[in-house]
Amino acid sequence: MPITLVIGTQWGDEGKGKVVDYYAKKADYVVRFQGGNNAGHTIKVGENVYKLHVTPSGVIQGKTGIIGNGVVIDPEVLIKELDELTARGIHPKLLISDRAHLIMPYHKLLDGAEEDLLGTQKIGTTKRGIGPCYSDKIARNGIRTCDILNAQLLKRKLERILPIKQKMLSIYSKRDILDLSSIHKTYLNYGKCLKPYITTTHITLQEAITQNKTILFEGAQGTMLDVDFGTYPYTTSSHTIAGGAAIGTGISPRHLTNIIGIVKAYTTRVGEGPLPTELTEDIGQYLQQKGQEFGTTTSRPRRCGWLDLVVVRHSCNISGITNLAITKLDVLNGLKTLKVCTQYKINGKIINYFPANTYDLEKCEPIYTQLKGWTDLPKPITTLSDLPKEAQEYLTYIQKEVATPISLVSYGPERSETLDCY
Ligand code: IMP
Repeated sequence: MPITLVIGTQWGDEGKGKVVDYYAKKADYVVRFQGGNNAGHTIKVGENVYKLHVTPSGVIQGKTGIIGNGVVIDPEVLIKELDELTARGIHPKLLISDRAHLIMPYHKLLDGAEEDLLGTQKIGTTKRGIGPCYSDKIARNGIRTCDILNAQLLKRKLERILPIKQKMLSIYSKRDILDLSSIHKTYLNYGKCLKPYITTTHITLQEAITQNKTILFEGAQGTMLDVDFGTYPYTTSSHTIAGGAAIGTGISPRHLTNIIGIVKAYTTRVGEGPLPTELTEDIGQYLQQKGQEFGTTTSRPRRCGWLDLVVVRHSCNISGITNLAITKLDVLNGLKTLKVCTQYKINGKIINYFPANTYDLEKCEPIYTQLKGWTDLPKPITTLSDLPKEAQEYLTYIQKEVATPISLVSYGPERSETLDCY
């Protein structure tokens, strides 16, 4: 299919990097549309492991990567990532939107300062400056990639913004000094490095669609971290749902008809906030260790829980997901019984939807269906019927409960450990 969108249906870290890498085989363009270097995608190719935070994963396969207008870019991180890829023999083909916003030094300082001040009520952000950068975008105080190509324009903008940011830092009792000439110089240098890549990517994409090119949109984070439809305020600051791809790249939503929702076979989240099916004891630790559930970006341990189909259904409905890709099925190997949450009970009332307020969410009791586990998975798996009966039943149950077919199953970190069920 010429246009495919891959998004996370849970709290991020669903294994999107591997699935994107798989679909990128056929793509001409691989496009990021939201988030920034709060994301971390791991791609394993033979002995080589690549961890990417801003660069679209498809560049590993020699595809053209596009960083859309909806992404927030830390230029220092991006330049380092590009240098590292080049040093490893990959020469990334990259285009960056001239409308994408830049993470500035004060965004990172303010992200940390706000989190410190919130204490026990903190969001648990990645402290990469993501929230403050998106706040400035909406408040119309942002600095965009096009601005670092013009010394006068950048200076004018910094002269207006820096005094405000300096005041904000002092409100948080931070002593850091925002030096205009040094920030100006540093960002103009970033502009010089990135100039060959900065362009009108929305037009590139519109033309690519007209020419029937194959385009893969690569979501970062997951639906439950969407700033409107996630566990607000314990979310990120962008739109992680399918609609975000249109806004974050400048293409019409009518082109988004093939939408793959990534579902990890269990649930994880990093940072604070509600997680109704959380397992704090043995099985949670088992999943954490076996699934290597430690953040790609911050190395924080991820909280683990049973698969929550209220969450997956919510994602499917909001994004119009057409197919599911199940990841990390092998991590469940060896568990005698598996539980899957299908509904919640709040104050004795059963609900099928994900409530908006965190107060209700804290009181949510998951209602579980128990399914039989399996011991191991054969390798390689070439058809669904190669799977143990119990694993087939697990997958069938998911498809039925969320009324969406499964098109891909990942059962190990290697590219080859992927079953395409189309
Ligand atoms: P921020 O995006 O750094 O502002 O962090 C806000 C919330 O989103 C925190 O709970 C983070 O842990 C979470 N978050 C941000 N990016 C990711 C990701 O790529 N995977 C999982 N969680 C993320």
